[in-house]
Amino acid sequence: MDYKFTDDWFSHNIPVWDKLLDVHINQNNREINSVLEIGCYEGKASTYLAEKWLKKGTKYQVVDTFGGSESESGMSHVMEELENTDYIYNNFVHNVNQHPDIEWNVLRGVSQMALPILWGQGNTYDFIYVDASHKSDDTFVDAWFAHRMLNEGGILIFDDMLWKDKENQDLNHSPQFGIEAFVELNAVYYNLLFSGYQLGLYRLSNEEVLKKVEMAKQQALQEKWGSGNGVGGQTIKGTFG
Ligand SMILES: C[S@@+](CC[C@H](N)C(=O)[O-])C[C@H]1O[C@@H](n2cnc3c(N)ncnc32)[C@H](O)[C@@H]1O
Repeated sequence: MDYKFTDDWFSHNIPVWDKLLDVHINQNNREINSVLEIGCYEGKASTYLAEKWLKKGTKYQVVDTFGGSESESGMSHVMEELENTDYIYNNFVHNVNQHPDIEWNVLRGVSQMALPILWGQGNTYDFIYVDASHKSDDTFVDAWFAHRMLNEGGILIFDDMLWKDKENQDLNHSPQFGIEAFVELNAVYYNLLFSGYQLGLYRLSNEEVLKKVEMAKQQALQEKWGSGNGVGGQTIKGTFG
């Protein structure tokens, strides 16, 4: 393929993604008919998925400013380059054009403003990759919308879970706090697939979610009162019956 990449922030993930997608698609017979990538840059992850795992006609939506990030260390060369050319967008378009079988859709803009549009249009996705702003509050908002647009049985992956900005050490200058807050609040909907520098989640079916809620309730009751067949039950009988 005749790709144009100036940075590679993705290839190191391929062994884990290959394993995950092999189990998901080949072994569990799940389909990926629609993808949302929040933060696609030049399309390294997009072209990997298109080349290896997606079938003809898959809808692939990306959201990106194609403007890098001024507030992040490590992006300075990007910002300098962007003063001369719209190279991120141009490279992205060039790269995904190598895969005309995929239905590419580009929404250029800040994800916190673009995602409400996609959600409002009723879009849903089987696979969502969150890799845009590295700030916790932004990432939480991205996750909030991703969760609402992810189909049952879908996959949600966050990048840069452990990324820290060397120049800004406060809590908001890393996506970790935002991702953890999202997971803490929505754990019941997901099974953990993998966790490390990236976090991978599997969206349970609504039926599985209800079962999980019921099991958690039973477990909490048991922890508080015991099983009901043992000492607790006999005490009540002995006292009142
Ligand atoms: C690390 S790169 C994404 C890498 C890409 N997923 C890949 O596989 O090569 C982060 C991207 O997010 C974009 N970005 C940063 N903040 C954003 C925001 N708030 N909304 C939309 N895009 C944003 C940047 O322009 C950049 O292209």
